[in-house]
Amino acid sequence: MKIKVTDRDGNKHELEGDSNSTLMEILRDAGLDIEAACGGCCACATCHVYISDKWLEKINVRDDDEESMLDQAFDVKNTSRLSCQISLSEELDGIELELAPQ
Ligand code: FES
Repeated sequence: MKIKVTDRDGNKHELEGDSNSTLMEILRDAGLDIEAACGGCCACATCHVYISDKWLEKINVRDDDEESMLDQAFDVKNTSRLSCQISLSEELDGIELELAPQ
């Protein structure tokens, strides 16, 4: 599955995802500048991304833990998600997102 990412410099990347991974793992393993300090435990908000509007409704909704971490993050928008909380599936083939500022 393809994942289309815009980095903080506006450069576009097309990554290959798989359904055994979270979005954060794919971004991190591709060497993109995403800290993911807590390793995916929903405890740091350093994996913050903006999901393209048209893809938002296809992914799971934020749970309470994610909401409370995002409350402490900067530059939060209604398209904000913590990428470690998004499990990939074939349905998300072609998903588009942008890295949030650090
Ligand atoms: S990696 Fe820490 S909240 Fe996602």
